Amino acid sequence: MNSFRRGYSNWRRSKLWPCRSGTKGPQAEQSDLEKFFEARKEGHGIWKWKHYFDIYDRHFSRFRGREVHILEIGIYSGGSLEMWREYFGPKARIYGVDIEPACKAYEDGSIKVFIGDQADRGFWRQFKKDVPELDIVIDDGGHQSEQQIATFEELLPHLRAGGVYLCEDLHFAHNRFAAYIYGFASNLNASQRWERNFDNQDRRLVCTATAFQSAVRSVHLYPFVAVVEKRDTPIDEFLSPKRGTIWAPFGR
Ligand SMILES: C[S@@+](CC[C@H](N)C(=O)[O-])C[C@H]1O[C@@H](n2cnc3c(N)ncnc32)[C@H](O)[C@@H]1O
Repeated sequence: MNSFRRGYSNWRRSKLWPCRSGTKGPQAEQSDLEKFFEARKEGHGIWKWKHYFDIYDRHFSRFRGREVHILEIGIYSGGSLEMWREYFGPKARIYGVDIEPACKAYEDGSIKVFIGDQADRGFWRQFKKDVPELDIVIDDGGHQSEQQIATFEELLPHLRAGGVYLCEDLHFAHNRFAAYIYGFASNLNASQRWERNFDNQDRRLVCTATAFQSAVRSVHLYPFVAVVEKRDTPIDEFLSPKRGTIWAPFGR
């Protein structure tokens, strides 16, 4: 059995998981995004899975109140663009992309709308000329793997340092965009060069960072969602120094 199958099958229905209806952890506080969503009894529609709000808040809260550039792909009824504007504040610049020309109607002074097909790389080339700075991408568009992959490949390199890329609705275990992200994330574990100093005073391991590791800080997986965070500043290497003077006789 290969490792993917083993990890998948051994844990899918594991008896190690506590009973679903058993003890619960402390109740999480509703984020401002979820409050905004729940308060929307009328007006332009928003359609989100409820557990996404916690994920958004976890990765986006540090951008609030700042002059950030946010793109959501998939506008539909326009309500989510209003939600981002409210959440990120008046300094934020909000961009929306949709294949449906009627979505142009949601454009206003602080929201710019582009009409195009997210699978069309030519569309993104023009978009990047029009929007030279981007800090956050939320892909809630057509949800087809090929659309998601083309969009990711065009926009991740375009994101500024410290930026966040979030792709939604990766349903089912064998989703092809999810498989693509597992391959993408494997680059985090590349190990280029090791140097060991065996002087016990300062024995350290050094691993030269690849270009990928220097640019990508982390990859996060949630139910139906993948998030990639870029580094604020590039790094050259990873260090594993030791501290202390008393060492066990075993190990290295
Ligand atoms: C799930 S809805 C977006 C929901 C919205 N973000 C919200 O939270 O309410 C998906 C949208 O993606 C758009 N869409 C579908 N295929 C697309 C494509 N190839 N390129 C761009 N937008 C697309 C649809 O027109 C639709 O408005």
